[in-house]
Amino acid sequence: MKVNEALAPAKVNLTLHVTGRRDDGYHLLDSLVVFADLGDHLRAGPADDLTLEVTGPMAAGVSAGPDNLVLRAARHLHPSRGARLTLDKHLPAAAGIGGGSSDAAAALRVLSRLWDLPLPGDCVVLGADVPVCLDPVAQRLSGIGERHIPAPGLPPLPAVLVNPGIAASTPAVFAALENRTNSPMPSKLPRLDTPREVASWLATQRNDLTAPARTVAPVIERCLSALHNARLARMSGSGATCFGLYDTRSDAEAAAKAIAQAEPDWWVREVTLNPPPSSSR
Ligand code: C5P
Repeated sequence: MKVNEALAPAKVNLTLHVTGRRDDGYHLLDSLVVFADLGDHLRAGPADDLTLEVTGPMAAGVSAGPDNLVLRAARHLHPSRGARLTLDKHLPAAAGIGGGSSDAAAALRVLSRLWDLPLPGDCVVLGADVPVCLDPVAQRLSGIGERHIPAPGLPPLPAVLVNPGIAASTPAVFAALENRTNSPMPSKLPRLDTPREVASWLATQRNDLTAPARTVAPVIERCLSALHNARLARMSGSGATCFGLYDTRSDAEAAAKAIAQAEPDWWVREVTLNPPPSSSR
């Protein structure tokens, strides 16, 4: 990828434990996050004014106005400098896979190079997931999602992402959560060498937002059922995207093909989560 381009990869929460709530209403999380070899693409060219064009298969419904996180990130980095930005949108919006946060992080990375400015330390104000998206490798998140430490010791994971085309509002899902003080993950995560070991260990962990997300978007149940032959099927973030883990890429490809045939209106993608460096598509 060229200097003025960045992949804004999909973020997948392999686990998401909600362990408490702050006085300001934000929830405390303990979450294991990985990124996919699939995402939006952001390009930046020099220009006097700051402009954004949104293209690509998922452009419909994504605002190119000042509320777009890409433009908010640009203005956060510098209040007045110009750039011509093109966001090629491949990820569904409001889908629990960090599309907007990853776009914002990509904008910060690309524009800090274009404008020769350091990355800001306070980008959590753009969204709780933006800091982790600045370093898109396997990470364990804590705090409200803004604290993260690398989580090495995971292999690449063949997977399928399934989104039913229904936006699940993150605030609505958190508001529907009944129990806000759940147990965290073990303090030390095990070393896991194969996709099968990862799936077995993940089965002992949770996404605490699944039950409230199902009340907001009941179709999530069908997404999880569609992934029935995966080693592990789980919702990511606050939904509605669900992921299935498979032993091999050919297993994941076969599953993605069958689900796409059965549900032609859904967004279904075969991906590798936690890919080796420089293998994005
Ligand atoms: O920070 P972000 O814009 O992603 O959060 C969207 C909403 O999700 C927040 O306004 C809040 O209602 C909820 N949220 C939360 N706890 C978090 C992250 C998000 O309650 N850790």
